[in-house]
Amino acid sequence: MDQDAEKSLRLFFALWPDPDTRGALDRTGKWLHKHWDGRRMRPETLHLTLAFLGQVPAAKLDPLRSLASAIRAEKFDLHLDQVGCWGHNRVGWMGAGDTPPALASLVAALETALQAEGFRVEKRTFVPHITLLRKARCAEAPACRPVDWPVDRFVLVESRSGEAGVNYEVIGEWPLAAAAVPGAAGPGEA
Ligand code: 2AM
Repeated sequence: MDQDAEKSLRLFFALWPDPDTRGALDRTGKWLHKHWDGRRMRPETLHLTLAFLGQVPAAKLDPLRSLASAIRAEKFDLHLDQVGCWGHNRVGWMGAGDTPPALASLVAALETALQAEGFRVEKRTFVPHITLLRKARCAEAPACRPVDWPVDRFVLVESRSGEAGVNYEVIGEWPLAAAAVPGAAGPGEA
């Protein structure tokens, strides 16, 4: 049997920060580390998971890419104004007090398409967050400067375990559409 046909990849859909946002998130991580210790995520690994797929046979990559290409969702601004630390898994994170409707729509569209194509989506309740620390010693949250992330694409990521820890590789990228201007005339309308 073809070896590649049996290969499987650990995959997830995510938002991947632009360099400015990554820098701001990394600075928040440094600040949280002063308060909560633990292990900081390397800047190049920072992301927000949209849908976690787990192990997926390599043969399913093409259907996965087609499904992602068919998603129609809008750009949005993500105002990250909250930090927290979860005692159960000792993750220190940054997130948004208000989830933008466009983010909720993107996640719903992905989940619907994945389910329709027979993918098993790991069902943690979706809590949008960026993990900044692992093995943190959780305590009261310090005040943090908010981070504004202009989101204009989503990505497919492969998670690979190496000697130096886990590496993430972006293996697909899809743009989000410009947001509709409220009250603007649609095509063919006066
Ligand atoms: P975490 O950072 O909160 O651990 C790669 O592992 C990414 O997928 C991480 O963002 C991780 O979230 C998330 N992830 C791992 N296992 C998951 C699961 N079972 N359900 C949802 N997301 C998961």
